[in-house]
Amino acid sequence: MNKKYEEIISTEIAKINSFISRCPQLKTVEGSPWETVLEAEKYALSAGGKRIRPLLAVEFYKLFSEADSVPDLVYEAAVTLEMTHTFSLIHDDMPEMDNDDLRRGKPATHVKYGTATGLLAGDGLAILPYEILADMALDGRISHLTAIKLIKLLSANAGNRGMIAGQMLDLWSEEKKDGINEEFLRKMSGLKTGCLLSAACLFGAVLAYASEEQCRSAKIYAKNVGLAFQIVDDVLDVTSSPEALGKPTGSDSERGKPTFYDILGPDGALKEAKSLSQAAADELDKYPNSGLLRQLALSLAVRNK
Ligand code: IPE
Ligand code: IPE
Ligand code: MG
Ligand code: MG
Ligand code: MG
Repeated sequence: MNKKYEEIISTEIAKINSFISRCPQLKTVEGSPWETVLEAEKYALSAGGKRIRPLLAVEFYKLFSEADSVPDLVYEAAVTLEMTHTFSLIHDDMPEMDNDDLRRGKPATHVKYGTATGLLAGDGLAILPYEILADMALDGRISHLTAIKLIKLLSANAGNRGMIAGQMLDLWSEEKKDGINEEFLRKMSGLKTGCLLSAACLFGAVLAYASEEQCRSAKIYAKNVGLAFQIVDDVLDVTSSPEALGKPTGSDSERGKPTFYDILGPDGALKEAKSLSQAAADELDKYPNSGLLRQLALSLAVRNK
């Protein structure tokens, strides 16, 4: 990736991290009995991670608002996507799901705090975004209509017809392994991974008061990037190492989970990821200043963590 874009991305990620660490709703009150669950939530959130979802929200805001600077409210809203994502990771790692004990280079939240607190930390991070977005409207930082649009985007994409549905199909696929084909994997990945990435791109678009046409482009970009992202995740589960990834490898095959790696093979899977990322990048060709998002899409298909 072009050096200028790399620098912008690392500046944005540092900013996102600082908004995460300053989140007032996660402040602990000394001696309060529920302190541990807040600590567990902050532990999971601050453990690192690529911050792709809030980054996409910020970059789509920049693309469609053409503003010189990004107001704080965009970062505050973007952080709710990382909370939702982190909740999904905490639950995804639990023994009843993928049973993985390493996440973002550290013991998984349920390993560090126990399964009951881990479960509650995931619940807490699943719900907090809606309090934050509602507060932003009540404080007058965003309009009530914008808050409703963001709440709808996040709840619909993370919920029963989005990420949760995809996670359910993922569990089901472990039982049905033999009947799983590429079409099923596309559907499942679109739901479990693509939906939240789509919410992320549309967060930026909504905050920038994007047109319908611009929102359509954001959705097409997200759909392609989402699928490419999960394909590469499946490949890295086989080809990478826990040191590089910060999470266990071989986890999918250990659970007998059918993946794109099995169905397309390593070369076929990476070729497909590249062509999806190219389609995402091409969709933004018509927008001036879309260089960073186009390169980001292409780089996600060749990422190594
Ligand atoms: C991992 O997401 C789970 C998937 C949806 C594939 P990321 O690869 O974005 O994980 P972090 O946030 O960087 O840890
Ligand atoms: C998880 O997919 C997608 C989520 C919604 C959390 P994976 O189970 O493949 O994600 P990793 O590999 O554990 O990060
Ligand atoms: Mg999983
Ligand atoms: Mg997993
Ligand atoms: Mg995986």
